Amino acid sequence: MLFRPLNYLALSLVFVLFLATAKAQTTKRINIIPQPSMVIEKPGEFLLTADARIISDPMFAEIAELFSSQTFIKQGTAKQKDQPHQIRFNHVGINVIPDSAGYRLLITPERISIFARTKIGALYAMQSLLQVQLSQPNRSAIPCGEINDRPRFGYRGAMIDVSRHFFSASYIKRFIDLMALYKLNTFHWHLVDGPGWRLEIKKYPELTSKGAWRTHKVWKEWWGTERLYSTEKDPNSYGGYYTQEEAINVVAYAQKRGITVIPEIEMPGHSNEVLGVFPNLTCSGNPYRSGELCLGNDSTFTFLENVLTEVLAIFPSKYIHIGGDEADQTAWKHCEKCQKRIKDEHLKNESELQSYGIRRMEKFLTNHKRKLLGWDEILEGGLAPDAIVMSWRGEQGGITAAQMGHNVIMSPGSHCYLDNYQADPETQPKAIGGYLTLEKAYSYEPVPAELNQSQAKYILGAQGNIWTEYIGTVEYLEYMTFPRLIALAEVTWSAKKDRNFDDFKNRLQSHYLLMKRLNVNYFRPTYHLNAVTKINNQNKNAVIKFKSEQINPPIFYTLDGQLPTSNSLKYQDSITVNSSSKVTAAILEAGQVKDKPIQIDLDFHLALGKKVTYNLPYSNSYRAQKEASLVNGIRGSISYGDGQWQGFDTNDFDITIDLEKSIPLTSVAASFLQQVGPGIFIPSHVDLSLSDNGIDFHKVKTIENTVPKTEKVSTKEFNFTLTGEKGRYIRLFAKNGQHGFLFTDEVIVH
Ligand code: ACM
Repeated sequence: MLFRPLNYLALSLVFVLFLATAKAQTTKRINIIPQPSMVIEKPGEFLLTADARIISDPMFAEIAELFSSQTFIKQGTAKQKDQPHQIRFNHVGINVIPDSAGYRLLITPERISIFARTKIGALYAMQSLLQVQLSQPNRSAIPCGEINDRPRFGYRGAMIDVSRHFFSASYIKRFIDLMALYKLNTFHWHLVDGPGWRLEIKKYPELTSKGAWRTHKVWKEWWGTERLYSTEKDPNSYGGYYTQEEAINVVAYAQKRGITVIPEIEMPGHSNEVLGVFPNLTCSGNPYRSGELCLGNDSTFTFLENVLTEVLAIFPSKYIHIGGDEADQTAWKHCEKCQKRIKDEHLKNESELQSYGIRRMEKFLTNHKRKLLGWDEILEGGLAPDAIVMSWRGEQGGITAAQMGHNVIMSPGSHCYLDNYQADPETQPKAIGGYLTLEKAYSYEPVPAELNQSQAKYILGAQGNIWTEYIGTVEYLEYMTFPRLIALAEVTWSAKKDRNFDDFKNRLQSHYLLMKRLNVNYFRPTYHLNAVTKINNQNKNAVIKFKSEQINPPIFYTLDGQLPTSNSLKYQDSITVNSSSKVTAAILEAGQVKDKPIQIDLDFHLALGKKVTYNLPYSNSYRAQKEASLVNGIRGSISYGDGQWQGFDTNDFDITIDLEKSIPLTSVAASFLQQVGPGIFIPSHVDLSLSDNGIDFHKVKTIENTVPKTEKVSTKEFNFTLTGEKGRYIRLFAKNGQHGFLFTDEVIVH
């Protein structure tokens, strides 16, 4: 064997020492996402001239072939195996590459060497090399360096919903190529849902001759009607499906690129398309009343098992996703068969009925040597014994499942739903709602703090989800997916200690070039500013730091609420403010404000930094700055997702602030937001009460809302002006009259 591990180890040590003294260049030439465990840049380049050849260990022949097909570098012949200018795939042992998915990549001017002990390791090395090449300004010069790498999590996923909008098999393959480039290893294919069944099932051709074709192209329009299905022949119908041959082909394509395809066959909810075709599987006999399969009817299980039998023959994945989310139990409550099942099986309620259905499917899958994976609702009514939970309604489902010793995939809506807005909704094409910036996606930590070390090992990884209610084209799909998905790729691959958003952002600049070359319609980095403000109560000052998706942008600001110009104060590293001010800042280029300025209303009021007790909790999805939100001196902007507005879902708002001593008060004010689209309403009234002991409160005043619930966007300040009032404890209660969200940003006390 040509390769002697110890020599290379010695060599790399020499290079480490060399680099420690030489210090890396300020602009890095090797920019890999996800961040590898170790990257050392070295001087020089490997030039991709016509004489370069790929030479591979037989074990990696298929990968070498794939590499050749993507780079047009020729494979070498046996005679060329010792030629100087080669890219070599070396098979090495566990002593060299301990991690089964690990690799080492060594680039010198004479040779590029890949070291791996498994095919998957070699594949990841190849992807790193491809990235380095594609992200260079000059694609035929690969900078020298050394990379050692291994993944943190074994599950690194992405999901596409092809039911609400259909995407062709050839597009799915392109998506798989992009996933593979970023070392994601699981494609979750949401194949069926109310808006369309997308997989040929030979036993039930109606599922695709009818159930795959809905009457309206635009999902929202169809959803707003009776939700009818048509046929492929109808020129006004919309839909599509994959033949089994196409699906098998996608699975093989993905497998060759190190990606497992997990199919999702939704049950028992989200099944309108099945019921539209087979009304006998509904509770009522009327297919348009509910989207739930009847769980009292054995034909439902026969149907599902027949479908799964064909699905298992197409998809070799260990996990089979059965959905399980958002089933409405109403139909089951009024169904004789479902009620009989509940009685016969000694079930307590409809939740246990759903759990009964899931357990039955799990038995079927276990008998076929597969494992059941479902959304976190499968916890309700009792979790099937071996099930794996995909936590989407926040992290709690995942926490509970891991504490019960079940494997978990994290995919909370707050950080992993790529259908959410990624920038100010006013500037974006219509999306489902929410607010998930690149930085927030990047900040995700898949292991919740609530888990101890032994529970943490049940977290297999995380997944980004692309739901397609509003995503009808591949251009829009890529716009929503990139670069947030590659931030999640780093979240799941890189060691926690190696993750740093600023560094990611720097590397991303080269990946914009890479994505351009691959014609990815990625979301361009915005000129939006975010701020981190730290208030120091003792010194009565505030330190503000601005953040942006741009690298070192020119930021100008004013302190009096005026729009900044290029003559305004120039931002350096931070701003220190020591009196109430309206800090207004923006990125300016050539004298032009590039995006809506950010305004920070700093109010040095009496409640600043005081303890807030939440008599009713805030929403887990809109925690803002948690317990500090309402007394941090910072008002929210017009966007409820700006990190200052704290949300309260369906509950009333009820908080107490402790001012630490009884003091005379002249005013207490709180503003509430209204944005009718996402269901945020101003409360119907707000009560102010005061107390000296925190127990006996007296109500001082009530202020009624005057903004009509039809007004789309608004804010209202509930300002209690006081005369002769004193108190230590301030209690504010706001009535949630519309059962939507309440959002408030600050309680200002003078
Ligand atoms: C889901 O988003 N309903 C899993």
